[in-house]
Amino acid sequence: MTTAAPTLAVSVALAARPIGMFDSGIGGLTVARAVAQRLPHERIVYFGDTAHLPYGDKSTAAIQAYSIKICDLLLRQHCKLIVIACNSASAAAYELVREYVGSKAQVLSVIDPIVAHLGQAYAGRRVGLIGTKQTVNSNVYKKKVDDLDAGVDLQSLATPLLVPMIEEGFFRNSISDDIIGTYLGNPALADIDALVLACTHYPLIKEQIARFYAGRVDVLDASDVVAAAAESYLAAHGLLAPASATPPAHHFYVSDFTRSFEESTRIFFEQEVHLEHYPLWE
Ligand code: DGL
Repeated sequence: MTTAAPTLAVSVALAARPIGMFDSGIGGLTVARAVAQRLPHERIVYFGDTAHLPYGDKSTAAIQAYSIKICDLLLRQHCKLIVIACNSASAAAYELVREYVGSKAQVLSVIDPIVAHLGQAYAGRRVGLIGTKQTVNSNVYKKKVDDLDAGVDLQSLATPLLVPMIEEGFFRNSISDDIIGTYLGNPALADIDALVLACTHYPLIKEQIARFYAGRVDVLDASDVVAAAAESYLAAHGLLAPASATPPAHHFYVSDFTRSFEESTRIFFEQEVHLEHYPLWE
């Protein structure tokens, strides 16, 4: 029948479009890595706003302005799905970004998938959370967890030293063990059953955190849960990229380029990455 063909052609073209992702820097590459592993045919366009790093200490208004500007770029790249691969930006700008993007793309935050997981797996239990000042002070996790009405008792602590420490590649050593241990020993995090790593940089210190708790506490990072949520959304909407024999050519932009960022990206993405400089404001 002639009527079915145009619809099919449109949805195949949409499915071939990339997934856009952004973060204040290269921390979101931990989420990009999980998405690339789970969905190996998807092409990723990644934007690291390195000129404005860290987002964790910025005002809500500033993070909102950066996020909208980045989404503009991602929409111009025809992204079918935009993943806000940063907790601070998800906390400050998710609603605004969704409104701005409208029907042009779906928007996924790193917060909602992990909150849903807490409701399913930790009902009636005490859960800790660490993140940037922006994420913790926004109280967004607490509000969303309380809305579930599942009896999850969430205790949050801002841990602002961790992002600069990780960006410097300063981890897996005794001084970073001390910093991590001092934060995790805070009474706010006493008697928890699980700890949410509410910052996309923290998967890189997950082993050190797990070692501190020696198996007594589940350490939850959102990367895999977010990748699963991206897959569910794309599958439900017929938007999964068609399989191809050649691997997708991902594209990585940063708003400020330094050689050290390019070197660190390998640690975050677990493979060689070429960063392209794309200034947001000229
Ligand atoms: N990766 C960002 C997050 O998930 C934090 C880094 C920053 O402060 O810019 O919150």
